[in-house]
Amino acid sequence: MSASAEMPYFIKPSLNLDAEAKKAAYEQAVVAIDANLGGETDRILKMATINSVLKTYLPYYYWAGFYVVKNGRLSVGPYQGTLGCLHIEFGRGVCGKAAREQKTQLVGNVHALAQGSEHIACDPNSASEIVVPVFDGKGELIAVYDVDSTQINSFDALDQFYLEKIMERHFRQEALD
Ligand code: SME
Repeated sequence: MSASAEMPYFIKPSLNLDAEAKKAAYEQAVVAIDANLGGETDRILKMATINSVLKTYLPYYYWAGFYVVKNGRLSVGPYQGTLGCLHIEFGRGVCGKAAREQKTQLVGNVHALAQGSEHIACDPNSASEIVVPVFDGKGELIAVYDVDSTQINSFDALDQFYLEKIMERHFRQEALD
């Protein structure tokens, strides 16, 4: 979707939340995720469910989804939004940096980054993003969780806190299949 900035009919522009509304939305999302995933061990089902709930509760989530570690690179997993890049090499873009450094990345304005190396523009409507590393019970990186907004500065320490907590709870502390 790099040729056009037109949004498909099923996606709306992002709406930023203040801290209080953001916290309330994440608290509701955490309850819904836990209620739906109790005892579930399949990673794909967990990724798809977590992503759907978060995208439903947080109105600034424009593109949201997982890139999973496969054959030494990131490959797109469960996501919602316009067409995502299929594969991302470690170190490339914000997702690749999160995977290589195994640390959450917060970017207030993706247009300020070098395009193609520091940021990969799958959709020109993306303006800010957060990428959170996802680990399994052995502490191995299994994926990154990537969320893009059409507004600048949508993500902050509150998003980081809740997303790291959700990933920790459902993947690092997972029951093994
Ligand atoms: N934002 C990413 C690329 C993936 S898409 O946004 C779906 C990045 O630069 O890492």
